[in-house]
Amino acid sequence: MEYKIVIKRFNQQENFFYEESFIVQGKKDKTVADALNELNNREILLNEQGKEAELISWECSCNQKKCGACAMLINGRPKLACSSFLVKVADKENTIHLAPLKSFELVKDLKVNRSVIQEGIKRIISKEGLSDKYYVREDMHDLRYQASRCLTCGCCLEVCPIYQKDHSFLGAIKYIVYLKMNLEVPNELSENMEKQCLDEYYNKCIGCKRCNEICPISLRVKMQVLLK
Ligand code: SF4
Ligand code: SF4
Ligand code: FES
Repeated sequence: MEYKIVIKRFNQQENFFYEESFIVQGKKDKTVADALNELNNREILLNEQGKEAELISWECSCNQKKCGACAMLINGRPKLACSSFLVKVADKENTIHLAPLKSFELVKDLKVNRSVIQEGIKRIISKEGLSDKYYVREDMHDLRYQASRCLTCGCCLEVCPIYQKDHSFLGAIKYIVYLKMNLEVPNELSENMEKQCLDEYYNKCIGCKRCNEICPISLRVKMQVLLK
């Protein structure tokens, strides 16, 4: 099967966005990540018109839906490239549109800077002063494990209306970090943390559930089930 991959790229010298398309062949188990790797590994990368193209910038690490690095817009929806099969995401013309996540600073092509997530998580941890009070409640290992699965891929922030306002609300990620920390501290600290979570997550979240629908590992859905 032949697919057309259309990539939104940015010309840094002349400061404008443009689209460049590439043709790839793919069987039913080929993912968007496989296609991008294959394109970048060609001896000479030619675009659909046969012109030599620059290598495509994007991020990939585990290639197993475990790190979140490959999050991007695939036909306008935030998804992981390594778990998006060409056959499933292509439109009727066998075309797939790729673009960088819009809610983060663009580095190049499909690569964005998501340090706002790591910095936000660091702020929560240092605010709670947990470094010398680390503690794991043994009865909560399973829930803690679920919380640890968050990839910090940013797909949920891409669709969160509150994050879009000023990029200060970490949405589902904030909830997951609080939940995880809450399971790791003694009860007296846990109460304080619940208050923080109320102020910084529950009182700001409008409950639209867009983060539930988009999470590539259905994390929040599972967390809610576990919390009932
Ligand atoms: S909650 Fe889901 S969508 Fe949000 S960062 Fe974690 S893994 Fe990604
Ligand atoms: S439910 Fe809606 S507002 Fe709340 S964190 Fe998720 S996307 Fe954001
Ligand atoms: S490369 Fe790690 S989730 Fe896709």
